[in-house]
Amino acid sequence: MSSHCIDKPVVLMRDIVKVFPDGTIALRGVDFELCRGEIHGLLGENGAGKTTLMKILAGLLKPTRGEVIVKGRRVKFRNPTDALRLGIGIVMQGLSLVPVFTAYENIVLGSGHRKPSRESIEKLMRETGLIIPLDAVIENLSFGVRQKVEILKMLALNVDILILDEPTTNLSPSETRELFKSLKKLRESGKSIVFISHKIREVLEVTDRVTVLRKGRVMGSVETQKTNPRELAKMMVEREVELVIEKPPYNPGGVALSVEDLEVMGDLGVPAVKGVSFSVNYGEIFGIAGVEGNGQIELAETLAGIRKPLRGRIVMNGDDITKLDVSERYKRGLAYIPEDRKVALIMEFSVLENTPLTEISYNKELVNRMGFMKIKRILEKSMAIIEQYGVVTPSIYAPARSLSGGNQQRLVVGRELMKDPRVIIAVQPTRGLDVAATEYVRNLLVKMRSSGKAVILISSDLDEILGLSDRFTVMYNGRFMGILEPDKVTDEELGLMMGGYTYEEIKARKV
Ligand SMILES: Nc1ncnc2c1ncn2[C@@H]1O[C@H](COP(=O)(O)OP(=O)(O)OP(=O)(O)O)[C@@H](O)[C@H]1O
Ligand SMILES: [Mg+2]
Repeated sequence: MSSHCIDKPVVLMRDIVKVFPDGTIALRGVDFELCRGEIHGLLGENGAGKTTLMKILAGLLKPTRGEVIVKGRRVKFRNPTDALRLGIGIVMQGLSLVPVFTAYENIVLGSGHRKPSRESIEKLMRETGLIIPLDAVIENLSFGVRQKVEILKMLALNVDILILDEPTTNLSPSETRELFKSLKKLRESGKSIVFISHKIREVLEVTDRVTVLRKGRVMGSVETQKTNPRELAKMMVEREVELVIEKPPYNPGGVALSVEDLEVMGDLGVPAVKGVSFSVNYGEIFGIAGVEGNGQIELAETLAGIRKPLRGRIVMNGDDITKLDVSERYKRGLAYIPEDRKVALIMEFSVLENTPLTEISYNKELVNRMGFMKIKRILEKSMAIIEQYGVVTPSIYAPARSLSGGNQQRLVVGRELMKDPRVIIAVQPTRGLDVAATEYVRNLLVKMRSSGKAVILISSDLDEILGLSDRFTVMYNGRFMGILEPDKVTDEELGLMMGGYTYEEIKARKV
């Protein structure tokens, strides 16, 4: 491999392979080179292997094969401390500060006897523009400020190779701008930075070079100046052969659900859904694609009634349901297949007990007038789910916890679809299912749609979205990038939308 660095690269990773104990091959022979004083973007979709590669560099994981050369020396890190000794520090997606300590205490924590003075940290703050209240307790600080604390902590430990794993995920636009300014200052002072992201726009804005990963392989490494959004989108997104699903022609009924200007707060105090409007018809699958973490989950939870919106309106079957709680929505014909099975099932409850969970408040078939459960009915229903959806369980009395992930998923999907709902919200409904079960669930969603129900399908699997949806959107950073028909959009346009460009912008050739 010929180097693109002027000097010797500070980091050279060669032919890195990583196989996890469960057999997942996360990296399939990756070469990566980081030059001194550059900001290097590591771009790729969910699961591409970005975090795994950088965890190897930071001593958090050991490679299965391959070599890592840091500042000219072949290294074999046993732990993150080994990597820190050579000046490598990583700031992970989930922050690792002690919430009850002050910013200053957190920064000096773990620095041993070479505890940096307040003055030295204040100097560092001035130099980098990472200004924080040193005496504030972490739990009272916003996510953006916490991130600055983490970066300062790394710098105080004399890190000169700084890895940031999707640092802008929970930042507001102005915080992102500030962060970028600081990163550029750090670069000027000779630090080398790896910027992990799936946001094409940001990578183009802040990096000098970009390496694109796809499914554990490097698709290319290019100078940022010499590339463009379209090229990066193409490298990032790949679609396999189109999935064939028998789908009767689209024949929509009236509006089943409409959403007006919905804004929803995320868990970290930053809006996760930023003014979304759309409607879904009976007899339609409406797909919501996008890289995970762009507000899809918060949107789904708000439609289901688990999360309250800050603003906006949700109308189902002509009624305003914005203020109704979950069970009231279920009663009106909503089915919800959440991403997390732990939300859908009570793990300590048996398969049988989990069966009536989302309709117990209203279904007279399952509960008598005195409020007692009709055990025989529930038993029959439970058996039917197991049978029709092929749930493998030792018995109907086994706790949900004892089922494999795929079988828990079948149980949830079966239960929700068997309720005969009007509107179905399905979030990653085939995640964790094998090929046969995946096909089964997809066909079921199509069947539901063709029998006149409205289906909202949220998935990060592009093939699933394009194969099943009648209309779809790509969600990015809390917004819809356009509402389109699957066969009227190219892969390149899709990649661009996933990377943060609206369909309008793309069509107007502004990209
Ligand atoms: N501890 C683990 N055990 C098994 N598989 C794992 C483990 N950690 C990651 N993987 C798998 O390795 C692959 C690469 O994951 P990785 O987290 O590196 O992706 P990523 O590019 O950082 O994705 P994202 O954008 O979602 O953060 C994925 O298929 C993931 O499921
Ligand atoms: Mg990651």
